Amino acid sequence: DQSRQIAKILSEFRLTTEQLLEVKKRMTTEIENGLSKSTQDTATVKMLPTFVRRTPDGSENGDFLALDLGGTNFRVLMVKIRSGKKRSVEMHNKIYAIPLEVMQGTGEELFDHIVHCISDFLDYMGMKNARLPLGFTFSFPCRQTSLDAGILVTWTKGFKATDCEGEDVVGLLREAIKRREEFDLDVVAVVNDTVGTMMTCAYEEPTCEIGLIAGTGSNACYMEEMKNIETVEGDEGRMCVNMEWGAFGDNGCLDDFRTEYDNMVDELSLNPGKQRYEKMISGMYLGEIVRNILIDMTKKGFLFRGQISETLKTRGIFETKFLSQIESDRLALLQVRSILQHLGLDSTCDDSIIVKEVCGTVSRRAAQLCGAGMAAVVDKIRENRGLDHLDITVGVDGTLYKLHPHFSRDMHQTVKELAPKCTVNFLLSEDGSGKGAALITAVGCRLREELN
Ligand code: BG6
Ligand code: GLC
Repeated sequence: DQSRQIAKILSEFRLTTEQLLEVKKRMTTEIENGLSKSTQDTATVKMLPTFVRRTPDGSENGDFLALDLGGTNFRVLMVKIRSGKKRSVEMHNKIYAIPLEVMQGTGEELFDHIVHCISDFLDYMGMKNARLPLGFTFSFPCRQTSLDAGILVTWTKGFKATDCEGEDVVGLLREAIKRREEFDLDVVAVVNDTVGTMMTCAYEEPTCEIGLIAGTGSNACYMEEMKNIETVEGDEGRMCVNMEWGAFGDNGCLDDFRTEYDNMVDELSLNPGKQRYEKMISGMYLGEIVRNILIDMTKKGFLFRGQISETLKTRGIFETKFLSQIESDRLALLQVRSILQHLGLDSTCDDSIIVKEVCGTVSRRAAQLCGAGMAAVVDKIRENRGLDHLDITVGVDGTLYKLHPHFSRDMHQTVKELAPKCTVNFLLSEDGSGKGAALITAVGCRLREELN
């Protein structure tokens, strides 16, 4: 009967502890592949070196500009960092829109737009003539050879501007600044949002050595031993590695956990076949998984009186904020119906119960898969350090983590279960990754002075 068939569809999304342990184990294998020289070229989890060699120690000082590109909001920031006993950070920022046609137009248009926004911000701050050092949070995979050079490996999430892949994004930014002939800036560092988040949190909490994003996309970074990073010269100390874990599964190693709905979401995306783990976890895709399940259930006659409306055919209708509302415990079913109504979906009371269950099942799997990945990371760090027990803090950011009523709890629970030898403390980043990018820029400036 109907409810048995619905249960059957959803059961594919319910993972057992054994399955999650298997995901953790496969992530561990992919981490090793990304780190070692012999497998690095074919590795899907790329483990990109960031040239960030330590977390902040309070000695950072100066005034900096920061850009924050790649999440829900594009921001330009001014960050004033003061060192010493009364150390402090003061921030001013402005949010700018990036129109879809700019995200998916030419690279030149994209970088001209960015520089246009910087120009507006400098006017707003009354600082056109100050040549400030700048940290560029660029939340995409970049192959770095130094702090201030990063070649874009591939666009992810909603971006697809031409002529950027394979190029140094710092170079693209510098060229756009030159084209404008209006002001000069000193680009000191390019920073992934995971790294910015880790640094932001580590400034307050020195045990923070991991960064995690569960937002539009999903990714993590952590402090790895230099001797394990075979792709960078030197064996002393540590370096932060941007895992780019969103690409986990791109070699097919997660196929036995993926459902037909995951395949549909992948096929309809801007980057089919890529970022398969991210597509099971992050905010940009969860609503799409839900929508594909609802379409299938409607086709089978279990929902919406069997009528597939135009709305249900519309990509992207279930944004993270709607999923979060639908799953809120304080909401009566009547309110779920009114949210669906608002989205243009006419539902009965029974429909709303099913929709809520679908949402809950999809986001729970997301949280558990994310937790399985994190369990692999903390156990790797524990083993690196030869410890029986590890105490560590993860700095976290992202709309999914912040807005969703259960995601964080389910993810924490999974890490606890899958990595029992680690006590993992999760610290929400309050100030975004721009602050962390400024802290990295401060260190970059000092290192440069020391070299000169
Ligand atoms: C923010 C960062 O804090 O978190 C962004 O400053 C980052 O750069 C973001 O991308 C991730 O969240 P979301 O949900 O906006 O993708
Ligand atoms: C995508 C990007 C990655 C980023 C993550 C979170 O996975 O490739 O660089 O950290 O999204 O924003």
